[in-house]
Formats: sequence, structure tokens, C-alpha cells
Amino acid sequence: MSDLKLTMGNIEFDNPIWVASGTFGYGTEAPELVDVNRLGAIVTKSITRQPREGNPPPRIVETPSGMINSIGLANIGVERYIKEMLPIYESLTTKIIMNIAGTDIQEYIEILEMVESVSSVIAGYEINISCPNVKKGGMEFGVDCDMTAKLTDALRSRTDRLIIMKLSPNVSDIVSIGQASQDAGADAVSAINTVVGMSISAKTGTSDIYTTYGGLSGPAIKPVGLAAVHKLYQKLNIPIIGIGGIVNGQDVAEYMLAGAQAVQVGTANFRNPGISEDILSQLETFISESKWPSANDMVGQVKTHS
Ligand SMILES: Cc1cc2nc3c(=O)[nH]c(=O)nc-3n(C[C@H](O)[C@H](O)[C@H](O)COP(=O)(O)O)c2cc1C
Repeated sequence: MSDLKLTMGNIEFDNPIWVASGTFGYGTEAPELVDVNRLGAIVTKSITRQPREGNPPPRIVETPSGMINSIGLANIGVERYIKEMLPIYESLTTKIIMNIAGTDIQEYIEILEMVESVSSVIAGYEINISCPNVKKGGMEFGVDCDMTAKLTDALRSRTDRLIIMKLSPNVSDIVSIGQASQDAGADAVSAINTVVGMSISAKTGTSDIYTTYGGLSGPAIKPVGLAAVHKLYQKLNIPIIGIGGIVNGQDVAEYMLAGAQAVQVGTANFRNPGISEDILSQLETFISESKWPSANDMVGQVKTHS
């Protein structure tokens, strides 16, 4: 069996197959469906300072080319998260990455400080600066280098745990946002969040999502994710975590060849919450049958024509 271990910041992960924020709840919901301890990490759904109900329905629609969601960051809020979820994580051996979302820098800081002030096994934070489905916050940071730098810097100075900035594909230059994150002290970036999309029912003449626009995810966005990862890999020297449309081990290999050191599986969890375990086995088989001695050796090795 190939060695799939990897190190990011001061954390060692058993393998590069993680589950993506918002597609695996708080990581505690499906113990009978999946052995979460086999996952490299669980990225929990975005947590905000106050509980949020999210957007009104309809907030999910299946299209012929992927799923569109507009959940709007529904979550229990950081106080309940600390009280109810952190104790459960103590019994898990997989790494927990808490995803944080806020409407301004102060909210992100407050959430992080609240979690830092209690003892927990959280390995790090993924900072959602890329949610396309809320009116205020998230994306305001993700489209602006200065705001991204300020936020990253503010959080960096308050924790020694991993800081991963989650980047949006809905920008003109994803690399400059990644660069701003790196320069301000992020340990890694993850890419991509969902791609802004719309679904219309021609017969009724209505939009299928309450908020009109939502975030497209699933295999349709894999090419967008691969390009983002490859562009980031050319310019950054911190690790990149690839996200978008991963459904099997070969998809993971493609992301690694593009430059990802780890990946996150998202929408595929809704079809099969145990799919990440299958993907892990498929990656092991892929590597053992390939010329690559290990997953790490594949990172960034895609042959391009120029
Ligand atoms: C229903 C749903 C909810 C999501 N919620 C969040 C969230 O709370 N925070 C976040 O950073 N990303 C969220 N995402 C984005 C995913 O983490 C991931 O970046 C995106 O779906 C692309 O990966 P995929 O194509 O494998 O699904 C959500 C995605 C879906 C489909």
C-alpha cells in the first residue's frame, strides 16, 4: 500500500482525501454510513457567530450539468458548535478542520477567538471567503486582495493552528487572491468553492432557486477546479487543496497532477456518504499501478504542451 501521508503546517494528515464543507454536516451525523477515521480530514460546514436558518426554499436544484445550491450558511452558530460538536471530536482520530464564515473581519475574529479559548482537537480553520449564496459577507473578502490579506493577517496573529483560505472561482484573478492569502500568512489555500449559476424552468418561466442565483457543484465544475489549482500551483509555494467535482480516485490523481497536495470531496457525498472511503481505495490502486512512488510525487507533475 502506498504512503499517502502528508504534512501541512505543523499537522500530519494520514491521507489526502478530505470531505468538503457543507456536504458532510458537522462530521458527526453518519457514523454508521462511513468510517470517518479513514478520512484524511473532515471540513465542517461553515460556522457563523449566530445560528442561521439559511435561505428559504427552494435552495437546491439538480440540473443536467450539476447541482445548484443556495443553502445560505444554515448552521447552529459557534456557541452551540463549541458546546455540542467539539466534545464529539475528542473521540475521533481523523483531523477536524472547522470552516468559518462571517460578514465582517470582526465576526471571523470573534468566532476564531471563541474556539481558541477552549481546549479542543481542532487541527485548523478553513476560512470561507467565497460563499456566493449570502447577501452580505464571504464573497466581499474573496474578490478583494486587500480584504483577503487583512482578514488572513488578523486570523494568523490569533492562532497557531492551520489557516486555510478557501478561494472562489467567481473572480477575475484567483491567483492574486491566493497570493494575498499566502503573503499574509495562510498555511494553505483550498480551491474551489461553487461556481455561480442559475436554473430556469422554461415551461413555468420561473427561476428554480429562491435567491435566483446559486452555486453550481459536482463533475461539471471539475475542469474549473483543475485550472484554478494549476494556476495557483504555478505561483504559490504553500500547499493547495483541490476541490470541485471529485467522484473517484482518478479525479484525485488529476487534481494532484495539477498541483493539489490534498483534495476535498463535496457533492458526491450526497449520493453516497461513504464515497470518500471508496475514493481512497481507488487512489491507492491508481498509484500502485502508476509510475509514481507516492501521492506526493505526483503533485504538480502534469505535462503541458507549452
Ligand atoms: C449543499 C452544499 C453546501 C455547501 N456549503 C458550504 C459551506 O457551508 N461552506 C463552504 O465553504 N463551502 C460550502 N459548499 C461548497 C463545497 O464545500 C465545495 O467547495 C463545492 O461544492 C465544490 O465541490 P464539489 O463539486 O465536490 O461539490 C457547499 C456545497 C454544497 C453542494
